[in-house]
Amino acid sequence: MELIHREGLARIAKFETAHGVIETPTILPVINPNLVVVTPNEMRELGSQGVITNSYIIRRNPGLREHAEKYGLHSLLDFDGPIMTDSGTFQSYVYGDMEYENLEIVEFQKKIGSDISTILDIFSRPDDSYEQARQAVLETYRRVGEVTDPGNTIIAGPIQGSVYPDLRRLSAEKMGNSVAGYLPIGGVVPLLESYNYDTLVEIIINAKLNAHFGKPAHLFGGGHPMFMAMAVLLGIDVFDSASYVKYARDNRLLFPDGTRDLKKMSYFPSWSPLYDKYTVKELTDSSPEERTRALSMHNLYTMFMELSEIKERIYEQTLWQYVEAKSRSHPYLFKAFLKILENSDLLVPHEDLYRKSPYYSYDHYSDKSPSIGRIKKFTRDFISGSGKDSVILPRESWKPGRLDRKIIRDVYEKLDVNMLIQWENRLIPVELEETYPVEQILTSSIEEGSVYSDALMEAKLLSGKKGIYAYSPDMKELDSFPVKSRKFDLEKIRTISDFQFGRNSGIQMFPDGVEIIKSRSTERIRNILLDGKILATMRAHDGFFTLTTEGAKRLLSIVEYPKLRVKVTDDSAEYNAKGLNVFFKFITDFDPDIIAMNETLVVNEKDELIAVGRSTVSGKEIGHYRKGVAIKVHHSIEGHV
Ligand code: GUN
Repeated sequence: MELIHREGLARIAKFETAHGVIETPTILPVINPNLVVVTPNEMRELGSQGVITNSYIIRRNPGLREHAEKYGLHSLLDFDGPIMTDSGTFQSYVYGDMEYENLEIVEFQKKIGSDISTILDIFSRPDDSYEQARQAVLETYRRVGEVTDPGNTIIAGPIQGSVYPDLRRLSAEKMGNSVAGYLPIGGVVPLLESYNYDTLVEIIINAKLNAHFGKPAHLFGGGHPMFMAMAVLLGIDVFDSASYVKYARDNRLLFPDGTRDLKKMSYFPSWSPLYDKYTVKELTDSSPEERTRALSMHNLYTMFMELSEIKERIYEQTLWQYVEAKSRSHPYLFKAFLKILENSDLLVPHEDLYRKSPYYSYDHYSDKSPSIGRIKKFTRDFISGSGKDSVILPRESWKPGRLDRKIIRDVYEKLDVNMLIQWENRLIPVELEETYPVEQILTSSIEEGSVYSDALMEAKLLSGKKGIYAYSPDMKELDSFPVKSRKFDLEKIRTISDFQFGRNSGIQMFPDGVEIIKSRSTERIRNILLDGKILATMRAHDGFFTLTTEGAKRLLSIVEYPKLRVKVTDDSAEYNAKGLNVFFKFITDFDPDIIAMNETLVVNEKDELIAVGRSTVSGKEIGHYRKGVAIKVHHSIEGHV
């Protein structure tokens, strides 16, 4: 996979097949070779980049088999784009019979020229016993091991394991490290059909986080547009689905947020291909063949429309908001969204340092999103590790972009206390007032303070023997706090450094002698200099630092190996020293805790600084990618070519 854009686990990426590149997220519509309702070329016009068909059905039918063996799969379907084939696992799950062996069916797929060939995995049902599901996982893994030479095809190795989290993890780890270059999540059709999205969410998280970020993740059978955005948010790249035609045969229409029955409808939406052609009555009265085809076209159109929306959302980095809003369209989706929030901590390591777009806060559920997970943890450590009393500022003393300077002058700069602002239902160190997402928030404010007592309770617990006080100008405790003369701006840049580069980095990065330059028009901090050289620039849009080579050198001397670094081959170092980006394939070692979009140091084999840039992915993912840019270099020791 080569990454193009990302938002956490969601990504726009591309991968190559023998018949062309596929850009994800996308859906491969199912073609039944016995009964083609919409041809692959017509599907291409609707937005399809490839299709999926079933090699088992082809092999069992003498006519289809002969054509495929003689002229190839692409001739059989009259399509020159990527074609994935399934193996017959699903048929054996539904009908119970299977006359072919695994290797036999894989060899057949290779022979007819399939671009992505699926092994004969064992379908594990949601109601399987633990032992049955474990056997399915182990046998499926044994079968992928039988494939020694994928040849010109990509092997799809399904992740099974039913509803058991540890079995999904086991299957994901084994498949991720196998010869399979493509990872479908299998055994989920019964869950999709019963709208059991919350169980599905757990399965996707367990599979995705433990498999392999460099390989496409596919959700077998997951083609309903109402669930696609949520699945993509959790890292699904490809869907396949026969639902467009199955629903059409049932006189049902897919919509981005649900399904409608033709019989109960009065109007077609103007975006639908049905709109110009039929009234509801005309379509209802048409022949079953015409109706199935027309409804199939509508259903495919809806799927691709939803996928374009999802892609645009990833590009804008607003997919989370889209899913949060969309989850309110159906109670089962909402339940699944709550399951994502329950697993929020698992998603935090994959969160980017900041987003292009503001953080939307609707209500207290928004407080649980992974994009504020990092700042929550930082605040916990900040309070518990400081050994200081804390003072909470009144709500009116801070709003995005506006901080009551008098309190800063009169209290902060005279006393040695933590100062916290009330941000939604959280408490946040005042020094982080400008960093994403604190300032970059759009909020309904409807629940301001409603569950704030939880945050207060937590702060009290964390502060141990020290106190937590609500500020008022005449509070009697002001006289008992330790006195300290300090500058807010200096403390602020140190705290941001602690957040971005690790605890206690700030005081070393920015010693007492630094010069802080502010913008004349906005009075915001712009540059930090030491001995006349710029170390860092504070970005206006997200409040984080961009380091210069001077700053990067200083950081390198502070943080222990391999923190905040990628190490590259000496060949690569030569180019990176001139300002060229770092490619994944030249990285020989890295910090597994790198935060996506954070400043990252590029060092050579001797751990000497070569360049500094922004990591495109997190340290959890970096080792999996082979193609594309890992670090976008912005400063380097020999300048830019
Ligand atoms: N189609 C739907 N579910 C599955 C599955 O678990 N395995 C395979 N091979 N195909 C499927």
